Amino acid sequence: MEASDVESLWRWNRDPEVVRWLNHEPPQSLASAERRFAERPRNSFESSLLMIERRSDARLIGVTALRDASPIDGRAELDVYLGEKDCWGQGYGSDAVRALCRWGFDRLRLHSIALWVVVDNERAVHAYEKVGFRRDGRHRECFRGDGRWHDMYLMSVLEGELR
Ligand SMILES: CC(C)(COP(=O)(O)OP(=O)(O)OC[C@H]1O[C@@H](n2cnc3c(N)ncnc32)[C@H](O)[C@@H]1OP(=O)(O)O)[C@@H](O)C(=O)NCCC(=O)NCCS
Repeated sequence: MEASDVESLWRWNRDPEVVRWLNHEPPQSLASAERRFAERPRNSFESSLLMIERRSDARLIGVTALRDASPIDGRAELDVYLGEKDCWGQGYGSDAVRALCRWGFDRLRLHSIALWVVVDNERAVHAYEKVGFRRDGRHRECFRGDGRWHDMYLMSVLEGELR
């Protein structure tokens, strides 16, 4: 992620449709988003934030992160979203997740990668299952969205299960 990418991230985070199923914070000014980016630590084994760029036209379409990676436990957690809504449902999200997991397994030598997803976010659940994620468990009523409580799945993919 480059400093010049902050504006895209800031714009996406203000779009209610994009953040509908995400844990989001109150709206920030662009200046505060830029300050926060300048202060964040560089990418490391433990935590990496990466932009998703469409190869055909170099357009930034989303963001993904691998965080809380532990060399002892061999596990990490993944986050992803596409901020450009016209790019949903075309395979970009699952492709980005696959690439990040491959990097995690091959280069960081992780054994498992987990994520949390709201049960009602069917497109996301489907995208993760396409890549090889399985549903490990269901946390009841732990996400508030659209004025009501939703369950979340904990999903994970193990080294060797990636498709
Ligand atoms: C979730 C997200 C990353 C998935 O990326 P994507 O590029 O849209 O997903 P993909 O195209 O790779 O895969 C989606 C799959 O779900 C299917 N799908 C689409 N809408 C669906 C729906 N309402 N119900 C079930 N499946 C659906 C698609 O057909 C596709 O499957 P297929 O390839 O077998 O046809 C992206 O949609 C996104 O960022 N959404 C908004 C934010 C968000 O929800 N982030 C995830 C938080 S955990």
